[in-house]
Amino acid sequence: MCGIVGYIGSGNAEKIVIEGLKKLEYRGYDSSGIAMNFDGKLVVEKRKGRITNLEEALEKASYDFGNCHLAIGHTRWATHGAPSDVNAHPHFSMDHRIAIVHNGIVENYLEIKDRLIKEHGIKFVSETDSEVVAQLLSVYYKGDLEEAMFRAIAEMRGAYSICAIAADEPDRIVATRKDAPLLAGIGNGCNFLASDIPALLKHSREFYLIENGEVVVLTRNDIKIYNSEHQPVTRDVFHVSWDADSAEKEGYDHFMIKEIHEQPKGLTETLERRLGADGTVKLDGIHLTKEDIEGFDRVYIVACGTAYHAGLIGKYAIEKFAKIPVEVDVASEFRYRDPFVDSRTLFIAISQSGETLDTLAALREAKSKGARIMSVVNVVGSSVARESDDVFYTWAGPEIAVASTKAYTTQLMCMYLIALYMGRVKGVLEKAYHDRIVEELRAIPAKLEKLLEGEQVIKNLAKELYRIEHVFFIGRGTDSAVALEGSLKLKEISYINSFAIAAGELKHGTIALIEKDTLVVALSTQDRLFEKMLSNIQEVKARGAFVIGVAKEGNAAIEEQASRTIYIPECMDEVTPLLTVVPLQILAYYIAKERGCDIDKPKNLAKSVTVE
Ligand code: AGP
Repeated sequence: MCGIVGYIGSGNAEKIVIEGLKKLEYRGYDSSGIAMNFDGKLVVEKRKGRITNLEEALEKASYDFGNCHLAIGHTRWATHGAPSDVNAHPHFSMDHRIAIVHNGIVENYLEIKDRLIKEHGIKFVSETDSEVVAQLLSVYYKGDLEEAMFRAIAEMRGAYSICAIAADEPDRIVATRKDAPLLAGIGNGCNFLASDIPALLKHSREFYLIENGEVVVLTRNDIKIYNSEHQPVTRDVFHVSWDADSAEKEGYDHFMIKEIHEQPKGLTETLERRLGADGTVKLDGIHLTKEDIEGFDRVYIVACGTAYHAGLIGKYAIEKFAKIPVEVDVASEFRYRDPFVDSRTLFIAISQSGETLDTLAALREAKSKGARIMSVVNVVGSSVARESDDVFYTWAGPEIAVASTKAYTTQLMCMYLIALYMGRVKGVLEKAYHDRIVEELRAIPAKLEKLLEGEQVIKNLAKELYRIEHVFFIGRGTDSAVALEGSLKLKEISYINSFAIAAGELKHGTIALIEKDTLVVALSTQDRLFEKMLSNIQEVKARGAFVIGVAKEGNAAIEEQASRTIYIPECMDEVTPLLTVVPLQILAYYIAKERGCDIDKPKNLAKSVTVE
């Protein structure tokens, strides 16, 4: 998500804000900018790319920074509009009398934008939803920025934290938030705003946490907070004892565990905006017509690593809901096996970073043979996104840990949505069944929250097992694909030799490796395959294995067979992967932690593999 920093005081506002933005670089961003008030003159500088690009621009412009005591800054993680100078924040109102920075998404920005163009002749310059905020404020501005803010937020829907400054008000910053973080830092003769604590730790450890719907007005010596009725509210001071490093992880020990816990939010963001009021799926960014979809005689899903594992679930979903044959391939193989691809092929690339070279090369190969290119990507404006005909973004937010977790589950969500959409458009998916699956998907974030509350059980299991050197993950149906992901999580952060195999395959050779105390994680969440899995558990137990069974709540029969059991909340077989993977992520995390591994940056690995 984007980062916000604001300052008002007697110091050098530009220096303090840029420093604060640099403390937020870890969150991932694609552009940055700053708005400064020089005694009534508003100036905005913003640049695509790293903050150093912005600093060079500021240096070149040689402003009199000693005379600037009010500034707001921003690091952007693009959601609407590719990364560019013009789409970067801050955004100016058309008259350049107001400047804003914004974090989040204004869902009804198009209707507001249309109204401002038609009724006020506003000329927009960017592709962003955020620019609407600046223009809307300027329309309501009659010399009182605080008043204008209340009127603007009464009209906006979505998730946002906003900071605004006005040329004619060099003595204050006005800010607000709804479902996006914002806090006010208390200084001495100065005050601060930020989206995240690390930006301000150098200057203050005393904060006011701004609540949803509240407006906060900062002057040098005062911080006023108002509720949505514009009544003043009092707020306890929140004291932060974290050091800078743990503040970046918002108190978690590693980005990975933080991102595991961010999955319910990521899934909600990825799902909810794509569902109409009647539950129909709206695929923004995907321009597939009924003719297009009926014209496909095959789908290739191509990716690497975790994204490939998401593709395997995509195969189940598309074949089950859209009745189109699907081939899933690792990108590094696809591009060298002269695949059968033509204009009747839908090629789906899945990539968190959107920069994985193998996946990009496979995409180019398919494109050269006439395939329709769709991609599921987490980074807006990345290479894979730019080279696709249709892009379906996961809205997981920046994923910092090398081991992918929230990107994987949001990729699964996207695959379900694409499959449901194609099935309905093709007319091969019964509306009642479609609606049941949509309801199941909607219920996942809350079930995931419940699952995460049971983290301690898995943590204890990790303490018991962390010395293990060989682990087998087995499963049937979609569980066999989730087993691959669970195995990859464990091996890449704990360096344990782990292996995944379809449970039905065990007897064809691999079971020779099972001996006393071999750890087997048996994923048994598919009702229709549960009895089969119990037999597989018996098979490996008979050879001395220690079995962790993973099953749906209520399937207590597994406890007679397994050495330990982890339950996931009840749900339909079709959507269990969204839940089953999470205990495996947590188990891998705590085993790696017990082993003292470098969890966020495992040896030999990179977050984005941009080489062959
Ligand atoms: C996942 O935990 C790994 N870090 C790795 O397998 C990753 O999924 C793979 O490199 C693909 O990356 P991408 O999604 O950015 O294309």
